Amino acid sequence: MSSRPQLHDFHGVAMTHCVTDNWEKVKNFQARPDDILIATYPKAGTTWVSYILDLLYFGHLSPERQTSIPVFERVPFLEIAVSSVVSGTELADQLPTSPRLIKTHLPVQLVPQSFWDQNCRMVYVARNAKDNMVSFYHFDRMNQVQPEPGEWSNYFQRFLDGQMLYGSWYDHVGNWWNKTKTYPKLHYMFYEDIAEDTEREIDKLCSFLGLSPSAEDKKTIVELVHFDNMKNNEMTNCSKRPFFDFSISPFLRKGKVGDWKTHFTVAQNEAFDEDYRSKMKDPTLRFRTEI
Ligand code: PPS
Repeated sequence: MSSRPQLHDFHGVAMTHCVTDNWEKVKNFQARPDDILIATYPKAGTTWVSYILDLLYFGHLSPERQTSIPVFERVPFLEIAVSSVVSGTELADQLPTSPRLIKTHLPVQLVPQSFWDQNCRMVYVARNAKDNMVSFYHFDRMNQVQPEPGEWSNYFQRFLDGQMLYGSWYDHVGNWWNKTKTYPKLHYMFYEDIAEDTEREIDKLCSFLGLSPSAEDKKTIVELVHFDNMKNNEMTNCSKRPFFDFSISPFLRKGKVGDWKTHFTVAQNEAFDEDYRSKMKDPTLRFRTEI
């Protein structure tokens, strides 16, 4: 029998106990005005943007920090509650640096109230659904605290039905997008844009954050956050996460736009596109499935 967690309904969203067990503390988390929340649907580029932000703010701190503290400890995962690691709220409360960079995958309606009350800056990263689905599938294969992915064809349908941890991709990206219309301190980024021109997207991020790194620092950051460098860096490739099985799939797997083409059948692609058109009605929210 599988010991993997099961999905359950949590305020209308599919979740597992690994992200709801600490809910009282998550819900009552006390944000500070300079906290920066990095929000994404899983597998949209969270680690990439977390590392970019970490380098922008703390790249000049001691070299030891760069070689001894994994990014998932520098940027706590707010709602995680897995017995083998310190909970996200506890890690965030212990962070010695400020601003605190905090990661979440929560849908916008479940973000703890204090982040809004404190008018915190938020960075949302979205990735096209096809690549997002493929990345999530391989993640679910290797992550022992994720539900069993099962066969790809069933997984494909589950994704369309929103039966994934954190619920429907369509609702997640759409509801966060809608929030940009009423909450100015939210910067919405796309994985495909970062892949196309990392420096341009760092510039946009800096103008949102009010940062002006030197040209040299920027060049260094662009280099450090390149896929190959992050994959070879033990502090960013998540190889230290106890519940990841790298013998099944690495965390930084391919890092590509368009990898879905190696997974989707022609029939799946047609079914996907038809379903997508019926769900994604807002013409202002556009994704690219190739660049
Ligand atoms: S998680 O578990 O939700 O926090 O995962 P997340 O970090 O959001 O997403 C992991 C995917 O992002 C890719 N990634 C990158 N792509 C390009 N360049 C860089 N530097 C980079 N860093 C992370 C990572 O490889 C995962 O995508 P796939 O398609 O599976 O490779």
